[in-house]
Amino acid sequence: MAEVQELRYEGKAKRVYATADPGVFEVEYKDDATAFNGQKRGHIAGKGVVNNRMSNRLFRLLEQHGVPTHFIEELSERRTRVRALTMLPVEIVVRNRIAGSLASRLGLPEGTPLAQPLVEWYYKNDALGDPLVSRAHAEVLGWVSPQEAAEVERLALAVNHVLREFLAQQGVELVDFKLEFGRDSAGRLYVADEISPDTCRFWDVATGEKLDKDRFRRDLGGVEEAYAEIWKRVERGLAP
Ligand code: TMP
Repeated sequence: MAEVQELRYEGKAKRVYATADPGVFEVEYKDDATAFNGQKRGHIAGKGVVNNRMSNRLFRLLEQHGVPTHFIEELSERRTRVRALTMLPVEIVVRNRIAGSLASRLGLPEGTPLAQPLVEWYYKNDALGDPLVSRAHAEVLGWVSPQEAAEVERLALAVNHVLREFLAQQGVELVDFKLEFGRDSAGRLYVADEISPDTCRFWDVATGEKLDKDRFRRDLGGVEEAYAEIWKRVERGLAP
């Protein structure tokens, strides 16, 4: 008998359901797309399927490299069992090249390589537009302990290292990406949320073509095709 599941949270791109097991949530990926803190809205056909599958494959790859993630089991093309975590109220962005808000905030040319990966902290708060903060804000305001802050940065850089190498083998440059973290009841940290074309910038190494949500944000066209192409490369790269 199908159990009725309690909707715990509905975000812009996903729904999260409670399950009979208090340690487990189910995530359902939608095709809805937003940008600029929800001011631009749309629909990307098949996005939920790509983001679910790609996140799960990349989480598994990260686990193989010792990075703990919330991933438990893929249930269907849009649904996945994940660990039920208490989310940290921050978004962590790692950048390898200048792009997006870093380019616009500081008036720097998009595409310039950075001398080393840059980790940025944002306060996750839609009403405030997810403002940029510092690691010190996160510590002093009590969102994370100093030990957790160090662990968050260590894990974010480890994710960057693993994904950058894997994607380079598929002819894709990882320009930047956003991570979210959660802690379990024992206080252990995990990479959570998703790792997908919604949350990363992927540039084709050969052509420079954008294979991510910037095609939607910037009205570049070929959005569905870009999601299909990056999924094809990730799937091929992780084929057994
Ligand atoms: P940004 O250049 O707009 O700050 O974005 C940096 C990275 O974070 C980029 O890969 C897209 C991702 N991102 C999200 O996943 N969610 C968001 O709400 C924003 C603004 C960016």
